[in-house]
Amino acid sequence: MRITLDGVSVRFGTRTVLDALDVELTEQRIGIIGSNGSGKSTFARLLNGLVLPDEGTVLVGGHDTAKDVRRIRRQVGFVFQNPDNQIVLPLVEEDMAFGLRNTGVPRKEIPGRVREQLAHLGIAALADRPSHALSGGEKQLVALAAVLVMRPETVVFDEPTTLLDLRNRNLIRDTVAALPQQAVVLTHDLDLLTGFDRVLVLDRGRVAHDGPPRTAVPWYVERCS
Ligand SMILES: Nc1ncnc2c1ncn2[C@@H]1O[C@H](COP(=O)(O)OP(=O)(O)O)[C@@H](O)[C@H]1O
Ligand SMILES: [Mg+2]
Repeated sequence: MRITLDGVSVRFGTRTVLDALDVELTEQRIGIIGSNGSGKSTFARLLNGLVLPDEGTVLVGGHDTAKDVRRIRRQVGFVFQNPDNQIVLPLVEEDMAFGLRNTGVPRKEIPGRVREQLAHLGIAALADRPSHALSGGEKQLVALAAVLVMRPETVVFDEPTTLLDLRNRNLIRDTVAALPQQAVVLTHDLDLLTGFDRVLVLDRGRVAHDGPPRTAVPWYVERCS
């Protein structure tokens, strides 16, 4: 999917958090890195209309996020940093069915879609588990499954591995690597970016570097750590 930011600024009060960005995203694997407060989450939220620009436009597949937010929410899935903010219903399969019901998928198709998606991520056994009793890694996978079951064209991840131990972090890394969809991944976990097509470094609301991981990661490590 082609996502175009054209002259995009975002302000909170008098603070400019993203400053006149012109960016076109078309690659399959895009990383976004930068210090805390550099604007990564705000950038990510622009991509599916969770945040709208104060200036400029964001086009997703040619549609303006300020005008076509329902369509864009379906095309661009968003996996939050903390899956507790995303998983709302007591049982895993109920939680995953929730979004499908709201988009008019015929009721009798829903359990099949849910189970197929869980199986695809290798977590079929979690279907009838209570959401609150999942481990951190399981929760993150369920949150991802709940996004993927909606069949988005693009998935945005806001620091998906921050709360995870090494084993679960590797599981998420491998799962992201294998996704057929376009993925935009915000992370402080620089190893996650191996094999990515493109990495943007944000610094105080601007794109300070834009290139493949082999240039962007050393650039960031040298200047921003
Ligand atoms: N809803 C909001 N209201 C006010 N300030 C915000 C809001 N969201 C983010 N900010 C501020 O915008 C700046 C960038 O935040 P954010 O995009 O979350 O950066 P990052 O994800 O890189 O840490 C921070 O200074 C943050 O405090
Ligand atoms: Mg953030």
